[in-house]
Amino acid sequence: MRSPVQDYWNRPIRDLRISVTDRCNFRCSYCMPKEVFGDDYVFLPKQELLSFEEIKRVTEQFAKMGVKKIRLTGGEPLMRQGLPELIRQLFTIPGIEDMGLTTNGLLLGKKAHDLYDAGLRRLNISLDSLDSDTFGQLNGRGIAPSHILKNIDLATEIGFEVKVNMVVQKGINDRHLVPMTAYFKERGVTLRFIEFMDVGTDNKWSFEKVVTKKEILMQLEEHFDLVPAEEAYFGEVAKRYRFRDGSGQIGFITSVSESFCSSCTRARLSSDGKFYTCLFATEGFDVRALVRSELTDDELYDELVAVWTKRRDRYSDERTEETAKSRKKIGMSYIGG
Ligand code: GTP
Ligand code: 5AD
Ligand code: SF4
Ligand code: SF4
Repeated sequence: MRSPVQDYWNRPIRDLRISVTDRCNFRCSYCMPKEVFGDDYVFLPKQELLSFEEIKRVTEQFAKMGVKKIRLTGGEPLMRQGLPELIRQLFTIPGIEDMGLTTNGLLLGKKAHDLYDAGLRRLNISLDSLDSDTFGQLNGRGIAPSHILKNIDLATEIGFEVKVNMVVQKGINDRHLVPMTAYFKERGVTLRFIEFMDVGTDNKWSFEKVVTKKEILMQLEEHFDLVPAEEAYFGEVAKRYRFRDGSGQIGFITSVSESFCSSCTRARLSSDGKFYTCLFATEGFDVRALVRSELTDDELYDELVAVWTKRRDRYSDERTEETAKSRKKIGMSYIGG
């Protein structure tokens, strides 16, 4: 057994977020605004995507480095054909203990049963409002929240552990915090509020549009009796609170107001096989070129170790209005959040 590989700041590698496609059936204004991702936008051609065999081989090396947890993302991961087969293959890798998938939920009606049969148990589903006009505008496709709510019900009935992600933006959906909380509290589904982040360069982010955890909590505490929960494991991304009446919990992802870089154990693999050591990285390491070369598994492992060992990223700790505007960052839909 090899010991977990640590970066420059002694952070071990524990999680691998794998983007399986750069495509999405939504055009969320904060991620793939339709003015940028229009009909003529060119997505990656199939041969540029890592195949399932390639993803598996790379993940095996990451598992040897210390990765225990996998998260499948996109774009919209359910747009990648045959995903249950990939899930099956990844579960066979020694060391992989946990797998989750982050989705907008639209295709779950068709796909949830097959995902469950493949062994997947955890789904994070994005939903930013219960209001049809607001949600339709935010997703850029006029899709009503009822479709997603129906699929959330279906997923919980099948037996998935479901969490709902709400990206909160000032003046856009911050009036919907209380109705969202009440709705999911009643159903025992964990709702997580995500501070709007300056990912990529297309989403017109500014500090003024961010609604912080503190502001959200102040609104919610007028209606709900909340108590902070203990961190479930070292480096947990969300800060959780429980309802005092025992009816479940909520969470906050505070990348802007309370950054969590010091315990960041996450690596990211884009759908075209670039290895990124931060969500806000400017450059990735081309793993696909290595996988498609003559390199042995051990040589591939050594290359990945070298990248993680040099890692110094702590973007959210260092964020300023200036870095948010001027730095050239990769897009959220491409790297998968
Ligand atoms: P679990 O804890 O396993 O349920 O997953 P998760 O919360 O890490 O995954 P999810 O895909 O639901 O992510 C929720 C939000 O947290 C997304 O907006 C991510 O972009 C954000 N997030 C996850 N990891 C990081 C990170 O390392 N840095 C930053 N800044 N944001 C992150
Ligand atoms: N800021 C915060 N969260 C975002 N997401 C996508 N773009 C952003 C952003 N700019 C969220 C999605 C999904 C998760 C993977 O990331 O809504 O829940
Ligand atoms: Fe929206 Fe997720 Fe699609 Fe981005 S990848 S446009 S956040 S559904
Ligand atoms: Fe990790 Fe980068 Fe997010 Fe900080 S900003 S928590 S280093 S991914």
